[in-house]
Amino acid sequence: MTSLSRRSFVTGLSALGAAPLLPKHSHADGTQAVLRATTSTAQLTPEGFPRTDVWAYAQKGAGSVPGPEIRVKAGERVTRRLLNELPQSTAVHWHGIRIDNAMDGAAPLTQDPVPTGGTFDYDFVCPDPGTYWYHSHNRSREQVARGLAGPLIVEDVEPWLGLPGAATRELTLVLDDWLLNEDGSIVEGRWDDLHAAAHAGRMGNTGTVNGQSFPGFSLRPAERVRLRMINVATDRIMPISLPGLSSTLVALDGHPVAPRKLEVLELAPAQRADIVVDAPVTSTEMTNLVVDTGRGNQVEFASFNIEGEPVQRSGEDVRPLPSWKTLPTLDLATAQNQPLLMEGGAMRGMVEATYQGEKMDFRELTSRGMAWAFNGVAHGMGEPMFEARLGRTVRMEVTNRSAFPHGIHVHGHHFTVLSRNSVPDPHKDVRDTVLIQADETVEIAFVADNPGKWMIHCHMLSHQASGMMGWFKVN
Ligand code: C2O
Ligand code: CU
Repeated sequence: MTSLSRRSFVTGLSALGAAPLLPKHSHADGTQAVLRATTSTAQLTPEGFPRTDVWAYAQKGAGSVPGPEIRVKAGERVTRRLLNELPQSTAVHWHGIRIDNAMDGAAPLTQDPVPTGGTFDYDFVCPDPGTYWYHSHNRSREQVARGLAGPLIVEDVEPWLGLPGAATRELTLVLDDWLLNEDGSIVEGRWDDLHAAAHAGRMGNTGTVNGQSFPGFSLRPAERVRLRMINVATDRIMPISLPGLSSTLVALDGHPVAPRKLEVLELAPAQRADIVVDAPVTSTEMTNLVVDTGRGNQVEFASFNIEGEPVQRSGEDVRPLPSWKTLPTLDLATAQNQPLLMEGGAMRGMVEATYQGEKMDFRELTSRGMAWAFNGVAHGMGEPMFEARLGRTVRMEVTNRSAFPHGIHVHGHHFTVLSRNSVPDPHKDVRDTVLIQADETVEIAFVADNPGKWMIHCHMLSHQASGMMGWFKVN
């Protein structure tokens, strides 16, 4: 809406022979396109239970969790003036967008955090269609846990919905995991809990979909729907199943894949998956979205009620999403090799690592709040892990020598998963966040085609804060 009205306004002006003097962050009517980070409340628990004080994004009116869905078409621009109404500094990261470095929101590497009462103008193009999200990138372990996350949907330029074999509509499902007290309030003061951080991270006790506890969605019999699923939890890996719905994976982290059938979808924090589901043909069944929370617990996060008039479906095979032509081609023959070794955490620890330029043993590291390291450096924000020339292919062999899985996220680039434990990956999925199991080695590669300073970190935000953090430079 913004860009369209802006474009017609600008065209109107130039038709009059005037230079378009439109301020960057304005709508055609002169109002600011804002994104407020603010305090709010949300009904995270079932109706009748107390509401929860949250930190939330808002465009108009009160803040909501998740934040308002921002939608643009591929190639279009997002412009938002962040207004910080929180009691803490903040910054917004547009997760997965191959963005201009200055707009990446990766405080303090690409911008200073925005203080209380301050503003920052985000203005960037979304080159790639797909399911993305935005979230706080300052004290994110606390700020994302308090609710600062929302969906960012980049639509295909050519329509897919409604074509033979495609879905007829889509739903965005933002999955979250909250740690709440019995009175509904967020468990405070455990942001720096090193015990949790040295294990699987800060696990919640309340699952939500789109900010609601066990919401119901209705599907018509035989209806085919595209689910855009986003895991915004700080630390919880969600193995998701949709028993009773026939599920076909069509995209991962925004990138289309050749449609493949799915029993369980393992969604790590920050990962997204687009799933096409077929509702059963009869209207009596109710089915659930189930998350496996470990130790045999299957938690129902949402329900799907099959009701209403059956849909006449055209074409049985799921139609692939339109292919995406904007990624540069890997040149593995001349690639720069960058091993990334992950160590630390409970059970195994590590002998020593460098933290803030000083070498120290594991006990000393933990006394500084550090439990993890990348290539022997804990929370390496000083020097880059490596530098790459613009256009060079970078191949990273990422080895997990710890006892826990990690979801590694590379900023500003999309990488191809080449192999797992030396076995070539049959799918060669393109992603921005990859889950690496204990003792697993995953080989990824990308073309370093985006100049600037880019973070690499574990997206279990407790792990990120306690050491699994570094950056690289492209120039
Ligand atoms: Cu989703 Cu560095 O972040
Ligand atoms: Cu991790």
